[in-house]
Amino acid sequence: MQPTLHQLKVFETAARHGSFTRAAEELYLTQPTVSIQIKQLSKTIGFPLFEKLGKQLYLTEVGNRLFSTCQAIFEELDQFEMIVSDLQGMTQGKLHLATVTTCKYFVPRLLGNFCDQYPGIDISLKITNHLQLEKRMMENQDDLYILSHPPQNLDLRVQPVIKNPLVVVAQPTHPLAGQKNIDISVLNDERFIMREPGSGTRQAVQALFNQHKVQVEIKLELGSNEAIKQAIAGGLGISVLSRHSLNGREYTDLAILDVEHFPIEQQWSVAYLSGKHLSVVAETFLDYLISVTKQAQMPWMHFQ
Ligand code: PGA
Repeated sequence: MQPTLHQLKVFETAARHGSFTRAAEELYLTQPTVSIQIKQLSKTIGFPLFEKLGKQLYLTEVGNRLFSTCQAIFEELDQFEMIVSDLQGMTQGKLHLATVTTCKYFVPRLLGNFCDQYPGIDISLKITNHLQLEKRMMENQDDLYILSHPPQNLDLRVQPVIKNPLVVVAQPTHPLAGQKNIDISVLNDERFIMREPGSGTRQAVQALFNQHKVQVEIKLELGSNEAIKQAIAGGLGISVLSRHSLNGREYTDLAILDVEHFPIEQQWSVAYLSGKHLSVVAETFLDYLISVTKQAQMPWMHFQ
C-alpha cells in the first residue's frame, strides 16, 4: 500500500471540509481531480473512505482513522519545515492563535509589530468566546491561547500577560454617570445588557453579582462587545465590558460608572497545553508576547 503524499493532502482537505468542492477550491484543483485522487486512494487502501447520506458527505470508520493519521503526518511535516527554516536562520511557518473576543482589542495590534519582525510567519487568529476557546483547547486545535480564566480541568502552562479590568458602562446622560462610589445594590434597578452564556466576561460579572446578592434584570443578551456598546449608546441599558473594548470612547458616547467593587480586576494570560511540543514559530511568538507585555511597551496596556 503506497498512497502518495499528494493523495493524502487531497483526502485530508476534503475530510476537513466535508466537501470535495471546497477541497478543490482550497487546493486550486478541479472537483473531478479531487474525486479521482480520492477514488484511487480508496482503491489503494482497499476500503471506502467517504459515504454519502442524502447530500451530506461522511467519513467511514477507515476514513476517520486515515484523517487522524493525515493530521499527525502533516503536523509533523510542518514542524520539520519550521526546524529546517530555523536552521537556515529564518523563522517561518504558521502560527495558530486563538483568543477570547475581548482580546481582539489588543492582539491584532501586537501581531502587526510581530509580523514586521518576522515576515516569514503566517498567522491564523481565531477569536471566539471563553467556552468555545475551552473546546478548542480540549481538541488541541491551536498553538497558543489568550484568555482570562484558564480552565482548571486542563493541564496547561500559563503566563499572565496584561490586565483586563471590567467596568460598568452607561450612556453619558445616564443619571448615575458622574456620581461617586455608587452602591452595587443600585444596579438591581437597572436595565442590563449581558454577554451571551459561555462568555468569560459574563461569568466574572455573574460571580460578583452572586457574591453581593445583586439580581439584575437582563433586558438584552448580545454575543458581541461592539453590539453591546452600540446598545448602550442607543440607551437600551447599562453593561459590564472590558475597559480595553472602549478604545477611548468613554470620553464621547459612553461613560464608565464608579460602582463599588468595580473594576473587576481580570488578567489575560497566554496558555498552551502542557504536553504540547511548541513549534519554533509558537515559541517565538510566546517570547515576543511576554517581552512586550513585561516592558508594557504599548500605552494602552496599562490602566490606572
Ligand atoms: P469573553 O472573554 O467574554 O469574550 O468570553 C472573556 C475573557 O477575557 O477571558
